[in-house]
Amino acid sequence: MEYIISDRLQGVKGSIIRELFKLMKDPNIISFGGGNPSAETFPVEDIARITSEAFEKNPIGMLQYGLSEGYDPLRETMKAHLTKNEGFDFTDNELFIVSGGQQAADLTAKVFLNEADVIITEEPSFIGCMNTFRSYNAKLVGVPMRPDGMDIDKLEAALKANPDAKLLYIIPNFQNPTGYTTSAEKRKAIYKLARQYGVMILEDNPYGEIRFAGNPIPAIKTLDTDGRVVYAGSFSKTMAPAFRLGFIVFNRALIPRMTVAKQCTDVHSTVLFQHICHEYMTTRDYKGHIAQTCELYGKKAALMLGEMKKRFHKGVVFNKPEGGLFVMAFLPEGMDSTPFVEEGIRRGVATIPGVAFVVDQSRPNNGFRLNYSTPTDEQIVRGVEILGKLTHEYLG
Ligand SMILES: Cc1ncc(COP(=O)(O)O)c(C=O)c1O
Repeated sequence: MEYIISDRLQGVKGSIIRELFKLMKDPNIISFGGGNPSAETFPVEDIARITSEAFEKNPIGMLQYGLSEGYDPLRETMKAHLTKNEGFDFTDNELFIVSGGQQAADLTAKVFLNEADVIITEEPSFIGCMNTFRSYNAKLVGVPMRPDGMDIDKLEAALKANPDAKLLYIIPNFQNPTGYTTSAEKRKAIYKLARQYGVMILEDNPYGEIRFAGNPIPAIKTLDTDGRVVYAGSFSKTMAPAFRLGFIVFNRALIPRMTVAKQCTDVHSTVLFQHICHEYMTTRDYKGHIAQTCELYGKKAALMLGEMKKRFHKGVVFNKPEGGLFVMAFLPEGMDSTPFVEEGIRRGVATIPGVAFVVDQSRPNNGFRLNYSTPTDEQIVRGVEILGKLTHEYLG
């Protein structure tokens, strides 16, 4: 059978990262390639207990269809959490529970995008959401990332050059893949430009709670006075990614559209896991759990960055992330990191080449992403030593 694949999926290549997942099964490979949370952070016993209690007390409730908007107690808990801790205002906004941050991007695309619409994205950016946008036949336009967020002049130039742009895609905290955080000034500037040029913003914040240094910066959503910001959050890094749970915050005027989009996609997110999330957040030490997660990642990041500083050739530059799971290192301008990454894998250390995270994947890219949440301390030391040696061979 010769299948005729839709135009929408023709141009979407599989994620290089998910391909690399296969390599990680080789026990001899030290993987800095993934983006998984550390297994140490999963509150396994509490989750097991809450699950068995749920089936004792309300088995039918756990197995029956749920509401498309999400499990009400969890929605209310999240709204209170975001109001208290992040300064959100739900007078004009609503929150739905969705099946991961990835689905928040998918629903936003489904609600707003027409064929060939332009999305302006940070570059590099998260491959999963870029592929979601590609699957809607959107045209991606990249704006280079700086350590304090998008290059604002280049953003304005992109908005001028694409007057019909629909959406601006921003990962404000500990961005995937760079680890960069957008400054308060740039968040204001981005919102102002979005208003001026009439584009929506998708603010994707799966890592915001995983801050181990510096001070939190208010979300762009808290600046939103005209309902142009859709905000996405995730339970993947704070609870467990296999729950496939996240949330989306948007102006109330969009409730009917978001409801239909969710219904068309998967009807509702898993009731059992929503119940577990809610119970965990309201009856266990959620704050302590997040603090422990941040402490663990802070230690791992410090170890990796310290080793990189010691072992990497001085021509390789990188910044210090204040949270999240990643750091991106850059070979000198003009060099291509893909052969470097391939040689690293041959020598037993996996990283992800920068080309995976850009709009035009045919152009060479000098960055490579390292993850510090999953490797052990010994693997971090050994893996950076191997990569460090390679940087010296490459840069002489
Ligand atoms: C920036 C960004 N957005 C969204 C997601 C998707 O997360 P989820 O597991 O909640 O679908 C990820 C996951 O790595 C991510 O890095």
